[in-house]
Amino acid sequence: MLERAQSVCIREGGMNTGFIGVGGMGGMLVRALLRAGALAPKDVYAANRSQAKLDALVAHFPGIHATSNSQLAAHCGLIFLCVGPTDIAVVLAQIDPELSSRQLLVTTSAAAPLKALEDRVPCRVAMLIPSITQEIGSGIALLMHGSRVTPEDRNLLAELLGRISQPIVIRESLARPAIGLASGGPALIAYLLQSMADEAVRSNPELSPELADKLVRETAIATMRLIAAANMTREEIIGRVAAPGGMTALAIEILSRYVPQAWQAVFRETAAREMKSRQSLAL
Ligand SMILES: NC(=O)c1ccc[n+]([C@@H]2O[C@H](COP(=O)([O-])OP(=O)(O)OC[C@H]3O[C@@H](n4cnc5c(N)ncnc54)[C@H](OP(=O)(O)O)[C@@H]3O)[C@@H](O)[C@H]2O)c1
Repeated sequence: MLERAQSVCIREGGMNTGFIGVGGMGGMLVRALLRAGALAPKDVYAANRSQAKLDALVAHFPGIHATSNSQLAAHCGLIFLCVGPTDIAVVLAQIDPELSSRQLLVTTSAAAPLKALEDRVPCRVAMLIPSITQEIGSGIALLMHGSRVTPEDRNLLAELLGRISQPIVIRESLARPAIGLASGGPALIAYLLQSMADEAVRSNPELSPELADKLVRETAIATMRLIAAANMTREEIIGRVAAPGGMTALAIEILSRYVPQAWQAVFRETAAREMKSRQSLAL
């Protein structure tokens, strides 16, 4: 089935927008922005190492331009660089001759510090850390701006990303914890829910995995709706459910012995590894 962009396009006739790397994140951004009508297909350029992903994108969104990295850079004023950290240097070497100070380059990788990118390219530079939740036009998109970014660039990114997410601008020094919560968050939450169901089955062999999965999944969805629709806080939910002396209160007490330590390790070790990879990344 063909997916068509809505008729209202905030950047109709605006500068061309390119996406280098249309894998998990790049592909999602293209799909979400086109579905939201934030970009017109004719203004969108896409490039990818393997041809199959480009072909699939063009089949869904006729009118977008599937092209090479260097042709994309030659035609686009706004370029989203959505490749993995180890591929950034290769792409920059390919598009180098086409880059100038008139372009805004936005990387989705937190591995390349903004200062290092600014030293490497003549463009204005920003960082966008999307979340898989933008697939449904929801969740947080983290934005970090380099020193050359203009007020117009800020407005453009806020407006564009605002069509598919809640954009939040942060300092780069907050990148790791913020990414852990907003972008890694869906995976961490999915893991916690899965391990809750798995352990319930392991401790109670009569409980089928299918039933445990359904109980956890529906409860998680309904709890998020309580938070979103009824504006209930975490304290209110726990207070309403965990009656003193009851089983849920005991369960919370047990969790409070282990969960904070686990999160401490998560934030400490991911920060240490990211710092190491940022220090060793060569552009
Ligand atoms: N996954 C997340 O939830 C998430 C969230 C926020 C930020 N990020 C960051 O976003 C970046 C992309 O992540 P991802 O999950 O989208 O990875 P991915 O699914 O592997 O996509 C990367 C894409 O880049 C393409 N590519 C690689 N080298 C290329 C080159 N030289 N020229 C053109 N295209 C090239 C790959 O093409 P092939 O088809 O040949 O593989 C692939 O389609 C990473 O830096 C990641 O850290 C990811």
